[in-house]
Amino acid sequence: MTKVTLIDHPLIQHKLTLMRKAETSTAKFRVLLKEISLLLAYEVTRDFPLKHEVIKTPLAPMNAPVLAPEKKLVLVSIMRAGQGILDGMLELMPSVRVGHVGLYRDPKTLIPVEYYFKVPDDVDKRDMLVVDPMLATGNSAVAAVERLKSTNPMSIRFVCLLAAPEGIEHFCAVHPDVPLYTAAIDDHLDEHGYIIPGLGDAGDRLFGTK
Ligand code: URA
Repeated sequence: MTKVTLIDHPLIQHKLTLMRKAETSTAKFRVLLKEISLLLAYEVTRDFPLKHEVIKTPLAPMNAPVLAPEKKLVLVSIMRAGQGILDGMLELMPSVRVGHVGLYRDPKTLIPVEYYFKVPDDVDKRDMLVVDPMLATGNSAVAAVERLKSTNPMSIRFVCLLAAPEGIEHFCAVHPDVPLYTAAIDDHLDEHGYIIPGLGDAGDRLFGTK
């Protein structure tokens, strides 16, 4: 069974509401997505292991917690809207490696078509966070994760901002082993595969292409 975590932190919910508003500008949308991504990163990494090392503060030595060095990460952005989450998470975790999966949805069939794929060589020694703001039909997420599994990462988590119930059901059916994190579960998909009420096309709003 896929573990679905709804990240309902009040700051995230408030910022998400601002992002949803039709009148929110591209500049503001970008900033909000970056801010939410930092907060999502806190939640998604909450169970990461720590080790202890002896340090000296100005006043005393102490055995202090640091991230276990074997916890190496790779962030994978599903282009193009995944870039918005990637930017925020990189600010918090600047030394992680980054991969990209380029998929577009065929507007008629809604089936994802891959046009780009690049991940670090040592991905098999890393835990993977796959990011895409919108889990709509789930077709892109399912295809991206399927492709990424073939590179043998140590683990995979999928992180989005908004999910439709249909997308969650699809994703969980195909990838029951991949934990899913989302900040909201909306009502339904429309006939064009858009999330309702949603926030529109995340890529267009992020890059100002419409
Ligand atoms: N992709 C988007 O950007 N928005 C949706 O509502 C669905 C898919």
